[in-house]
Amino acid sequence: MNYRALGRTGWKVSDISFGAWAIGGAWGTVDDGDSTAALEKAIDCGVNFIDTADVYGMGRSERLIAEMKRRHKEEIIVATKAGRRLPRQTVEGYSEKNLTTFLEDSLRNLSTDCLDLVQLHCPPTDAYYHPELFGMLDRFVEAGKIRYYGVSVERVEEALKAIEYPNVQSVQIIFNCFRMRPADLFFEQAQKKQVGILARVPLASGMLTGKLTRDSRFAADDHRNFNRHGEAFDAGETFSGVDYDVALDAVEAIRGLLPAGVPMAQFALRWILMFPAVTCAIPGGKTAAQVADNCAASDLPPLPDGTMRAVREIYDTRIRPLVHQRW
Ligand SMILES: NC(=O)c1ccc[n+]([C@@H]2O[C@H](COP(=O)([O-])OP(=O)(O)OC[C@H]3O[C@@H](n4cnc5c(N)ncnc54)[C@H](OP(=O)(O)O)[C@@H]3O)[C@@H](O)[C@H]2O)c1
Repeated sequence: MNYRALGRTGWKVSDISFGAWAIGGAWGTVDDGDSTAALEKAIDCGVNFIDTADVYGMGRSERLIAEMKRRHKEEIIVATKAGRRLPRQTVEGYSEKNLTTFLEDSLRNLSTDCLDLVQLHCPPTDAYYHPELFGMLDRFVEAGKIRYYGVSVERVEEALKAIEYPNVQSVQIIFNCFRMRPADLFFEQAQKKQVGILARVPLASGMLTGKLTRDSRFAADDHRNFNRHGEAFDAGETFSGVDYDVALDAVEAIRGLLPAGVPMAQFALRWILMFPAVTCAIPGGKTAAQVADNCAASDLPPLPDGTMRAVREIYDTRIRPLVHQRW
């Protein structure tokens, strides 16, 4: 496992970290025993950074992480998120009173006095035009409730605006072989300001593992069933916003680029790590085997230039017209 500096925090985090959405819910039935084994495997593989949110199973993901942390002495940094428990996404909803309630619950779920990193959880775009909201986060830091804060965004423009606030330490954004626009301008700006970048949905919800087919079926409570077209939340969070059949064809084209013996999930993650502006990818893992597979990406050799160009070509011809300007 390799480690990269996370913004100006002083932390060095595993470049393959752990995304803890699926172990909370919205991905079909998950078994806490499997989730615990997945978390333990991550730590075994050298993961020291976990991304979660209060809404992932309404505390279930945070509580599983707290239980795992109790069994380990080494430093494990936990980034959580706040804001999605609001019944409606409005700027006014991100009030000191509401945030205090959300943070107190996360502190309790994570069994800690101070949250390592709190991210605003994809607030409305207008939130980034309200400096008082970031002033409020500064006060949570001063009060010792949170150590650092960052944002999780849907759009590149939100990311660019967020890093105008000097104490934003990290930006979480979708970045993968099917979502390349963040690399155009945002990465350079974030690097200039030493802001950490967490690449989320790195496997395009499992699509970039190469295991899905036209016959794959998803449970009613799996967002890959109920959010295909953005029915419950932003469509970009499911399969990275790419039409399922288009994505399957692009995956077949990528399959032809895999170096001998390299599984597609590892290839897709190594592709992300080719961008030095990225601090870490945070693949979701439901089982120990998935986590071991994903973590192995950290130690793969760099991908050749020709392979990087070929992935870009697949994106430009098949994916870009459908998604590039949307996020
Ligand atoms: N708004 C936000 O802030 C936001 C939104 C989305 C995600 N996130 C964060 O980003 C993290 C990652 O994104 P994500 O979980 O949505 O998507 P992802 O990492 O692209 O895909 C994860 C899913 O792919 C499958 N998978 C993972 N590794 C695999 C492997 N090696 N082989 C085969 N299948 C594998 C698993 O599902 P199956 O086994 O069921 O196929 C897993 O749940 C989340 O966990 C969360 O922490 C944040």
